[in-house]
Amino acid sequence: MDREDTAVLVEEPVHIDSHLDGAEERTLAEDVLDGLTRPFKELPPKHFYDARGAELFDRICELPEYYPTRAERAILEERSEELAELTGARELVELGSGTAAKTRVLLDALQAAGTLERYVPVDVTEDMVRDCAESLVDEYPGLRVHGVIGDFERHLRHVPPTDGPRIVAFLGGTIGNFPPGSRRRVLREIARLLGPSDHLLLGTDLVKDPSTLEAAYDDSQGITAEFNRNVLHVLNRELQAEFDPEDFEHVALFDREQEWIEMRLRARRELTSEVRALNMTVHFDAGEELRTEISAKFTPERVEADLAAAGLEIVRWLTDSEERFALTLSRPRAGRPA
Ligand SMILES: C[S@@+](CC[C@H](N)C(=O)[O-])C[C@H]1O[C@@H](n2cnc3c(N)ncnc32)[C@H](O)[C@@H]1O
Repeated sequence: MDREDTAVLVEEPVHIDSHLDGAEERTLAEDVLDGLTRPFKELPPKHFYDARGAELFDRICELPEYYPTRAERAILEERSEELAELTGARELVELGSGTAAKTRVLLDALQAAGTLERYVPVDVTEDMVRDCAESLVDEYPGLRVHGVIGDFERHLRHVPPTDGPRIVAFLGGTIGNFPPGSRRRVLREIARLLGPSDHLLLGTDLVKDPSTLEAAYDDSQGITAEFNRNVLHVLNRELQAEFDPEDFEHVALFDREQEWIEMRLRARRELTSEVRALNMTVHFDAGEELRTEISAKFTPERVEADLAAAGLEIVRWLTDSEERFALTLSRPRAGRPA
């Protein structure tokens, strides 16, 4: 066999596709044009996650008040073997994969079951996809990683096809960042990635007492406040805005009617900022708020209804011992519309 033949046969363990280009900057610009000119100002939470935002989120996951990460990890530690057995998955696709810290528990179980072949992380934060891919191929000999740098609201069609059973994991309660209508739309799009032998593994934070919820989003060390203000650093850098993040107070409150946490930034004084890249001036009255995230909390009924609306049926409902967080394994319902 000559060298050229060898080159054709050897597949690189890491393959990364990026779908973020000028279009991504336009999305930020459109979100700012739309969200900062409304009577109630709002921005979607995906803009928190530049390199600094991603690092701050990792620190949040370690905070004593932030129980969701520990609770979800505990479920994975207890039930991953069963998930591997039930699914026989050769591939794990993960949406909003971040540093894939908890994912390793599932990868360990799939590897121990002897089925694991490929991991497909999908995330908007480029460095995280690249770093995580390089680390995982070192940690799991024989694993292939196909990273997709992109927006899971716009780029799911770029998730590569598979010929074996797969799990699509959407962990961390990130689905709760969408309001109810968009949530069902996103779940329907995700369900399209599933063939008849594939499963969705969905992490959802559960409804509980407001003081526990509010503490999780307003920690005593102020890390969540820094994370929240980070969106202003992103606007300053990407769109040449002139916000002083310290002009804004971090607010986290549980809306009992909607059963979601809202994070907001509240102007400490009346202020005006230019957003030079958009040729736009943004005005805040003293006390005026910008909503930066909602994080919906779920009941079992709500999870079941949302999955059913996406054509999925529940196979396993798994919670931690204190029933703070749930992981739901579901699969396409027989006869669902394509
Ligand atoms: C709350 S963190 C969860 C990270 C990790 N899955 C976990 O459970 O700890 C949300 C992750 O989703 C990514 N993300 C947020 N919005 C996204 C979007 N629209 N498309 C792709 N990734 C997104 C962020 O970069 C971040 O890594």
